[in-house]
Amino acid sequence: MAVLVGCSPRSGATSKPAESDSTTYKEAFPLQYSSLQGERIDEKGLKKGHSINILRDICEAPLARDRNGDILYNEDGTVNAASYEYDEKTKRYVLPELSDQQLKEMALFTGCLSCKTSKFNDLYEKQGASAFGSVYNADAKSVVDGEYFDCGMCHSGSPSAGNVSANLMYFKALGEGFAEGLDPKTAVCGQCHNSYDYRSSIKTEGDLQKFRPYRYGTDMESLFKANYEDGVNFNVDKETGIATCTMVHPIVELFQNSPMAKLGVTCVSCHMPKTTDQESGSTYTNHFAANNPLESEDSLKYCLTCHENQGIGSTDEMKSFVQQKASGLAAAHADLKAKTDSFLSALETAIKSEAKDSATLDQARELYAKATWFERCINTQPTITVGNTVAMSDSAALVAAGNAACDEGMALLS
Ligand code: HEC
Ligand code: HEC
Ligand code: HEC
Ligand code: HEC
Repeated sequence: MAVLVGCSPRSGATSKPAESDSTTYKEAFPLQYSSLQGERIDEKGLKKGHSINILRDICEAPLARDRNGDILYNEDGTVNAASYEYDEKTKRYVLPELSDQQLKEMALFTGCLSCKTSKFNDLYEKQGASAFGSVYNADAKSVVDGEYFDCGMCHSGSPSAGNVSANLMYFKALGEGFAEGLDPKTAVCGQCHNSYDYRSSIKTEGDLQKFRPYRYGTDMESLFKANYEDGVNFNVDKETGIATCTMVHPIVELFQNSPMAKLGVTCVSCHMPKTTDQESGSTYTNHFAANNPLESEDSLKYCLTCHENQGIGSTDEMKSFVQQKASGLAAAHADLKAKTDSFLSALETAIKSEAKDSATLDQARELYAKATWFERCINTQPTITVGNTVAMSDSAALVAAGNAACDEGMALLS
């Protein structure tokens, strides 16, 4: 029987020392590791978190997916299983062994990993740009080795406060310096919570160089222009040629234009507060970044360092203040949605009746696309409650821009 020397069961004989692995640093930094595995149930009853278990399901589960390999959520945030077995004993879904052909049909691509683990960087080194479109089979799984949301995504080498940076290649490759220009404590989150919808279009190194979403600027108006031109983040109706925005979570782009970003607040300031371990009394950075800051006393106390000036006296009051702002935004969003729906009917009628020349109709199509774009900037994904980006965006400007696009378009058609 052959004996492999120097090969642990976790890493293949050819893999280099695991610089980024959570398992490597789990024991040295137990508080950071265990907080990173935090999970919670949100107001819609959905499980949220960056834990290895949640991210594994997102990348590996045989669920209905779009061309990028992203899970397709229903309006209410639920998902549709393509094929599944549930093990009552372990309370986990048992994933069937799928052939490469089946993986392809299900759109289970390694591109999904480009914003889930730094192991994607290793796959990219091996496979080049085709790593975005190849199937997530056993070979690729052995490279990832269960290291979802690993330390190496945000730390270079042994984790410390001094080596925080965005390390995932996808965000940086298309970003033209955008990532590098952000505060590292915003960039680390932005490497996944961004507007990118290019994965299924990247087949070659040339594509990686060609796509430049920020070529007109990083504000939402400029980003719209680039996305509309590139034909990403829109679903085009074949019959009418009407494009409707399908973008999800452009959080980092929304955030940099928000009032609080301009004051130097970062994603980490609100989502990863410093906390004290009850047992040892030591202070550390809470790595449960997917927590809702409104459910964290540490986060709410941080808000008060500024908001006390507005007469907000307690963490409970701070929570109510945000919830009130969020309901206001949800109401404004409902109005905007109703307006885009009327715009759509008017546009469909105008296209069918050929009452306007084709240049005018194209202009109206673009304005409709823009209106739905700003609608999606507020309603960022089916799994969230509308309005809860209020602390992270200049929401008044988004509402105004969406309404302006509707008004301008309706005027063209009248
Ligand atoms: C490797 C990609 C990645 C990085 C980096 C990342 N996230 Fe996430 N985040 C995700 C994914 C994927 C989910 C969805 C998981 C789920 O369904 O709960 C998520 C979920 C969340 C949620 C819960 C969303 C909800 O619907 O309620 C919050 C909040 C969040 N992330 C904040 C952050 C912050 C803050 C940072 C930076 C410190 C960060 N994330 C870094 C990928 C990432
Ligand atoms: C999503 C990005 C992200 C990931 C992933 C991440 N960290 Fe961190 N880490 C941070 C940030 C941000 C800080 C705080 C930096 C600061 O305060 O200036 C930090 C700080 C630390 C520190 C310094 C001490 C402290 O608590 O502030 C340690 C140790 C640490 N992380 C360990 C880990 C370990 C271990 C892992 C993997 C299990 C990990 N981190 C994964 C973002 C991350
Ligand atoms: C000023 C504090 C603050 C900052 C800065 C901040 N957030 Fe949030 N974030 C919140 C609050 C508060 C909520 C929950 C609001 C609610 O539930 O009504 C939230 C919710 C979220 C959610 C879930 C909602 C959604 O639309 O998906 C995600 C994801 C998220 N934040 C990511 C980020 C990222 C990424 C950054 C940086 C680009 C960031 N946040 C910066 C306070 C902040
Ligand atoms: C560095 C100071 C500072 C911190 C820390 C801070 N804020 Fe703010 N925040 C402000 C200021 C200033 C404004 C008002 C900006 C304006 O009205 O132009 C504001 C506005 C807001 C708004 C209203 C946004 C709108 O569109 O009306 C919300 C919601 C909010 N903050 C939530 C939070 C939450 C939640 C936290 C903590 C997790 C927090 N803030 C932490 C300074 C801060």
